[in-house]
Amino acid sequence: MPLFQVLLILKCGLLCLVQSKPSKPKITGDLNVEVNGYIALTCSSQSTSAPYYYSKLLTLSYTWFVNDTKMDGETRGTLRLYVTRDRKYNRYSCTATEEDMESDRSDLIQINPLCTYD
Ligand SMILES: *[C@@H]1O[C@H](CO)[C@@H](O)[C@H](O)[C@H]1NC(C)=O
Repeated sequence: MPLFQVLLILKCGLLCLVQSKPSKPKITGDLNVEVNGYIALTCSSQSTSAPYYYSKLLTLSYTWFVNDTKMDGETRGTLRLYVTRDRKYNRYSCTATEEDMESDRSDLIQINPLCTYD
């Protein structure tokens, strides 16, 4: 927890809420997939709002990007993609949003469709 949050909590006790943007998300998932199969990417972030019990009540929503373009209608933490050979060059990233606060963008990941010789 950043020092400024600790200080705020000490200052206002247990009753006040300290909101801050969620942590920078990480994308996980098996990036080596067969062409013409589905892949599931998971974006995970943590609320850094305090107190802790309050942050447990929040649900984060997610935004996915392909290259730098927002993907419409993808707000869940898991993105399912149908992998084709030409998706190989797409770079995916995500952000997590809590209330009005958006996290930093995750690192970019690139899926790596396994070559099939057909
Ligand atoms: C993303 O960028 C790569 C590399 O420039 C390009 O090949 C690919 O077509 C782009 N994908 C989309 C969906 O724009």
